[in-house]
Amino acid sequence: MKLDIILVIEQEKNIRELITATLQEKGYIVTSFSTTEEATKLLQEKPDINLLLLDISLAGEKGGNFLPWIGRKYPDLPIIIVTTAMELSETLKCMKEGAFAYIIKSSFHPEELNIIVEKAREFKSLKEQNRKLIKELQAKSIESASKLKEIFLGSLNALVKTMEIRDGYLVGHSRRVASISLKISRKIGFADNLRKKILLGGNFHDIGRLGIRDDIAGKNGPLNEEEFGHLKKHPLISVEILSPVIRDSFILKTIKHHHERFDGKGYPLGLKGEEIPLGARIMAVADAYEAMTSHRPHRKALPIKIARGEIEKNAGTQFDPEIVKIFLSLPHADLLPENIS
Ligand SMILES: [Fe+2]
Repeated sequence: MKLDIILVIEQEKNIRELITATLQEKGYIVTSFSTTEEATKLLQEKPDINLLLLDISLAGEKGGNFLPWIGRKYPDLPIIIVTTAMELSETLKCMKEGAFAYIIKSSFHPEELNIIVEKAREFKSLKEQNRKLIKELQAKSIESASKLKEIFLGSLNALVKTMEIRDGYLVGHSRRVASISLKISRKIGFADNLRKKILLGGNFHDIGRLGIRDDIAGKNGPLNEEEFGHLKKHPLISVEILSPVIRDSFILKTIKHHHERFDGKGYPLGLKGEEIPLGARIMAVADAYEAMTSHRPHRKALPIKIARGEIEKNAGTQFDPEIVKIFLSLPHADLLPENIS
């Protein structure tokens, strides 16, 4: 198959006609111009040009810096410079800028031109194949990355379920905390990517409870001091489990500090006020509210009104008062989990 269109831009009429006739004889469709202005008009419409022969005197400034312009517009287009023996340095400059080959006017030979054109065709086809292959590879790697992500999230969710079933009274807790945190962050005006992080943080915040002793995890009653001291390790264990696979610091900090208190009396580090990462201040409210409105082995779920009152009462001590204000502006019905994935 021949190239569809070969564009010839050559000032000298006899050379232009010679090139055109040689190429037409081989069956190519040739469009020729004597100036870059005329050619530019045609090229603005981005026709399917397969090869360009360009007069050296029109490649640079005199031709309106045509060579760099066309290189950007048609990155795969092979360009053959039509030059003279006197203009070697300009020709080499063009080659550096991406021209494929050159022919010298004074020693023009039809067969030489045909060989170069054939090689240019092969070059273009290889470049196109290469680009296509890269695109296919990129698509494949995106596909495998999203499959891996799916498998990884599936495994983590399975771990969360295992933890919740082991603790019994925690079934659905992580999902509800994620939902409440999401609603608060949406009300604050978090961007989509940050909301996704809050959701992931909420789903996995208590995964570290898997590392808590069986006698504490399944205890049907209040914990003593020693037991509570051991339970306090769970945010750090969560981070230890997740950090090899979740590298995002916003998610990890949200999880690590979800039991800090605004007055500095929380754990694991006793951070105070705005030292506590914002995601963790949101999750602290969501976690406490979810816990209060759910049944626990040693107590029944609190009525919604009472639980909201408790959150309000602890604004400024346990919780960030600004987050509490936002939380209280959301009706309970809006906090329930929707179809979140
Ligand atoms: Fe927790």
